[in-house]
Amino acid sequence: MGLLLTAVMLQTGWSQSYWRDKCIPQCHCKYVDGRKQADCQRNGMTDIPTELSDEIQVLLLNDNYIRELKSKIFFKAGLVNLQKINLRNCSIEDVDQHAFAGLDVLTHIDLSVNQIKRLDPSTFQLPSLRYLHINNNSIQRLENNLLANLPQLQVVEFNFNRISDIGDRTFFNLSKLKMLKFKNNQLVQLQPSLFQSIGNIAKLSFDLQDNPWKCDCQLREFFDFVKSNSFSTPTYCHEPEYLEKKSWESLTKEQFVCLHTEEEIADEKVTPSSQLSNHPNSKLNSTFNEIKVNVKIFSDNINDGNKITKDQESIIAPILKQLLEQTLDEKLALIINQNELLQKKVKQLEVKIDHLESYIPLKNADRASLQSDKIKT
Ligand SMILES: *[C@@H]1O[C@H](CO)[C@@H](O)[C@H](O)[C@H]1NC(C)=O
Ligand SMILES: *[C@@H]1O[C@H](CO)[C@@H](O)[C@H](O)[C@H]1NC(C)=O
Ligand SMILES: *[C@@H]1O[C@H](CO)[C@@H](O)[C@H](O)[C@H]1NC(C)=O
Ligand SMILES: *[C@@H]1O[C@H](CO)[C@@H](O)[C@H](O)[C@H]1NC(C)=O
Repeated sequence: MGLLLTAVMLQTGWSQSYWRDKCIPQCHCKYVDGRKQADCQRNGMTDIPTELSDEIQVLLLNDNYIRELKSKIFFKAGLVNLQKINLRNCSIEDVDQHAFAGLDVLTHIDLSVNQIKRLDPSTFQLPSLRYLHINNNSIQRLENNLLANLPQLQVVEFNFNRISDIGDRTFFNLSKLKMLKFKNNQLVQLQPSLFQSIGNIAKLSFDLQDNPWKCDCQLREFFDFVKSNSFSTPTYCHEPEYLEKKSWESLTKEQFVCLHTEEEIADEKVTPSSQLSNHPNSKLNSTFNEIKVNVKIFSDNINDGNKITKDQESIIAPILKQLLEQTLDEKLALIINQNELLQKKVKQLEVKIDHLESYIPLKNADRASLQSDKIKT
């Protein structure tokens, strides 16, 4: 009995050192946090090492020159027990769609700081994958099904890429997903349907900073989705101009509007519920893409009782000044933009102005003549 125990201990001791003895000169093999790790960082390696023990669980290859991850490259190297692979700053340009195939216990992949431009949708069909970091690459588009049916996936990072386009089924059936990072990309607009197919999204957090978001009616639903369902780091609009640098925190979905040109309205591409009236005493009451612009404007001969107070005037005056200088589209945008403020501070926007003409939609010809008048004076 005692003899048997000794034999077992010897056996274990031998196998414990065996995986370390099988290390190669470019790597350090040791236990770190209870896992068998091969640290092969910054050694001028140009390929995945093939002579390491198959017991290796963590493979660190940062700062090498791997350039390409070929089909089943880890599996063929016998590294079938890998849980974590770090390949940061390895000049990787190509990742074969089967590069990680056969790694059933792989939980972490870090491919950050490489030159990857494209990822095939089947690249990450890994049942245990939890953390995927692909920051600082050159990816422009995320394909449909890139991240689909991954029951363990929790964190996905694509910061500092050039992503402008995300297929509407890129993220699908990811029941544990809790963090998506897209900081510093080229995203302009996204549809909420993109994330509705994820599954249980109650706790999803986003990093959407530093993207050229176009905050108009096309982004409204996504904005509303982010604001009401998730947490997001501070995010700012880039377009339209009047919302540039406005924080999402400070906006409401009613401010995400699409303004239409007079030509579009004339062509009946959009139908405002009522055309802007050109009667001097009438209300501007127009529905642009379901956003109501409802501003009362009175001419000089305003009735008593409709006078505005000094306080109200100080709020309205600068807005009006801008209104008078701008085109119709800009005016409407501004009105919408300021609407909330006005509703809070001024019960009703009842304003005395003398250049009513500038609130009437101008025909292009009229606008041109008005502008040339301006130039003359
Ligand atoms: C990337 O790896 C190369 C080669 O080892 C190294 O010289 C360089 O400093 C690394 N860059 C960063 C940002 O770590
Ligand atoms: C990623 O790129 C950004 C912008 O070029 C840079 O500031 C950041 O340091 C990079 N991160 C890494 C880990 O290299
Ligand atoms: C979601 O993913 C799980 C795990 O991969 C799978 O078993 C299930 O069938 C998938 N559900 C749908 C609706 O595709
Ligand atoms: C403003 O437009 C809405 C929507 O068409 C309409 O229901 C409402 O009666 C209008 N209000 C006025 C004062 O014209």
